[in-house]
Amino acid sequence: MRVLVAGGAGYIGSHMARVLLRAGHDVVVVDDLSSGHRDAVPAGAVFVEVGVADRARIGEVLRTNGVEAILHFAARIQVGESVVDPRRYYDGNVAASIALLDTALDAGVRRFVLSSTAAVYGDPVRVPIDEDHPTSPINPYGDTKLAIERMLASYGRAYGLRWAALRYFNAAGADVEAGLDERHDPETHLVPIVVDVALGRRESVTVFGNDYDTPDGTCVRDYIHVLDLCDAHLVALEHLDRGGEGGAFNLGTGEGHSVAQVVDVVRRVSGREVRVVYGPRRAGDPPRLVASPERAARVLGWRATRGRLEDIVRDVWQVRSARS
Ligand code: UFG
Repeated sequence: MRVLVAGGAGYIGSHMARVLLRAGHDVVVVDDLSSGHRDAVPAGAVFVEVGVADRARIGEVLRTNGVEAILHFAARIQVGESVVDPRRYYDGNVAASIALLDTALDAGVRRFVLSSTAAVYGDPVRVPIDEDHPTSPINPYGDTKLAIERMLASYGRAYGLRWAALRYFNAAGADVEAGLDERHDPETHLVPIVVDVALGRRESVTVFGNDYDTPDGTCVRDYIHVLDLCDAHLVALEHLDRGGEGGAFNLGTGEGHSVAQVVDVVRRVSGREVRVVYGPRRAGDPPRLVASPERAARVLGWRATRGRLEDIVRDVWQVRSARS
């Protein structure tokens, strides 16, 4: 299939571009490089430096490359920033996705996979979270992703768009073979931060709250390997192509780990000390976010296979320690 990877110079998009190429697909990456890295795009992909909201140029890219499906990773992703500067989220996520979808429909592209998020559920009323759990985001980031999901549902009914919204839990991990991992600026995600402390590149990690109603008082999350996420996109794409049932799918392992457990695993894997400082809770952090991945298993036949936290941390450790 000829696939457009929007945001393919970013963390998950750049991993996806490689997975698609390895599976024999043709890949076109578009990215405005506002947060992505040109050198993360694999050599086998066509690269065009353009934002997804640029209708004229994206339309031309879709037509000249005969694109058949779009994987949409291009987004703003920081929950905290979305609270203080929501315009950037409505513009960068909602408005940009409206433009991309319009352009796709005009160009006759009818298969679309969205990077969505567990943030659409807000503060969960039950865990593990399945797709029937109420969607009630507690920050503009989650609001914007849910708005795009709703747009997809309407466009599916009205225009025959075949779509899937993949609701990631906590993406982590790296592609050791490609020497690729996440490079956010600033980095806010727990796993790379703790690994950097073990590497001596940061003084300490601040644990945001240890008085939650969880076994050790720190927040519990469902960490999923980025390559498992990529596999899920691949099967979702093939499933939509066969005319299979679309909709929203949780991507997680079904297993939760606390912040303290992540720190312990990094200590074990690296054999280094990790200095921990306890700080106040971070606004908007639910105590527990753990997926029920059963719908993806039943409908797509997908399950996370690199699910062990040790493996995720080992891969991140390898890639980050090899990078100066
Ligand atoms: N944490 C710390 N210290 C840090 C960084 C994180 O204690 O320096 C804690 C957080 O409080 C949280 C856990 O580690 O309990 C994981 O935090 P991350 O920032 O790595 O990830 P989040 O769970 O906040 O966010 C992720 C994605 C978001 C998405 C959200 C959906 O990064 O894009 O899941 O729930 F919105």
